[in-house]
Amino acid sequence: MKAAIISALVAVAFAQQDERLDLDKGKSREEIGHQVVPGGTAPQIQQLKPRFQAYNKDVKRTKVRYGPYTLPSTKSTTLMSLISGEAGTMSTIAIGMKKPCDTCGLVTLQAALEFPNGTVADNPQGAWLHHVVMVASGTGRSDNVCGTWVLPGERFFSSGNERTPTAFGDVLGNKVKSVFPISPADTFLAQLELMSLDEREKPVYLVMDYEYVPGPRPADYKIAKAMWLDVTNCGISSVIPQKGKMQFTLNSRAWTSGFNGQLLGVGGHLHDGGMMVNVYQNDKVICKSTPKYAKTAGGHSHGRRSETHSLARRDGPEAADGKDHIKEMTTCSMMGGLTKGDKIRIDAVYDFNAHEGGKSKAGAYTEVMGIAILYAAADPPAPAAAAAPAASATPAAKSAKSA
Ligand SMILES: *[C@@H]1O[C@H](CO)[C@@H](O)[C@H](O)[C@H]1NC(C)=O
Repeated sequence: MKAAIISALVAVAFAQQDERLDLDKGKSREEIGHQVVPGGTAPQIQQLKPRFQAYNKDVKRTKVRYGPYTLPSTKSTTLMSLISGEAGTMSTIAIGMKKPCDTCGLVTLQAALEFPNGTVADNPQGAWLHHVVMVASGTGRSDNVCGTWVLPGERFFSSGNERTPTAFGDVLGNKVKSVFPISPADTFLAQLELMSLDEREKPVYLVMDYEYVPGPRPADYKIAKAMWLDVTNCGISSVIPQKGKMQFTLNSRAWTSGFNGQLLGVGGHLHDGGMMVNVYQNDKVICKSTPKYAKTAGGHSHGRRSETHSLARRDGPEAADGKDHIKEMTTCSMMGGLTKGDKIRIDAVYDFNAHEGGKSKAGAYTEVMGIAILYAAADPPAPAAAAAPAASATPAAKSAKSA
């Protein structure tokens, strides 16, 4: 069981999120409220300055630090480095993670790594957040696509080293209001893989930056749900390409929506050689998520990945090998309505002639993937009074209902 959980969560690092959510840009860490304790350990819980009051005037923002985890030396041999063939990687499952609240509705969530003293641990400091996938577990929770048979709850967030915030509502347009509701029955766990780019072993904390509406979900807010769409369906995400095939398309099964609501956003994940992830709603393409390829050797590196480290690996900082590697994927947002019974599926298109795929030392093509995480906002269930047939039978009941 545990092996199944691990393999189903491993190896996803992608940018399905929106850069425009980074409203902190231009502010100092101090202004935002991040605490640094030179020579010591920063507090586990820190209140930060909220960003989305226009979305909900009561929003609060809490940072929780988990760990410490030891980033291994790139020289040491960990179990994970043997499995992945990458130096300096470690993988673990965090359980019973402290929540930002007992009852609240998540608006945004962002992952990061910090040193014990509270300063940022990122690529230039030799720390790489390979991926983290968070699961909400507890009464009534199950994966929206796979149910309970393979996972202990609902996968609701994932991040790679790009560390972009994920939104659980239309926080930029303010047209559709929704939150990811958290209740006292929920427990959080995460599968994470960290990678060191440095020979020195060092402790780091996994950091989650939660922005949320305190208390129960406002009655007119929809319920955010994440759907993990994968060409291996509820499998391990990895596909070994067929020998000799240079062009191929991988298809997922359809997920059938059990609710009415709004599509919030989606973005794909591919490995090198990938051309696009198409997302279909009832056989019509609603998003074509395409990769941006870039060379690092001699070229200019955009974004947060620095050129100071040059280790060849999957999903890691790009090798300075003069070849194209996927840097990021385009995303789509606010793609329209979702109706109960709608069928959503994806395909992943590969062409190794257009972009070379990853290769093992022996020259064979290595694992590829086709994944998209879709966020949707489900209409809240009708109020109990309206659903009960006898509720509006008497004038008294009617006035009680409108009170
Ligand atoms: C915080 O810790 C990191 C890693 O040990 C160190 O490089 C940095 O100088 C420290 N910063 C402060 C302000 O103490």
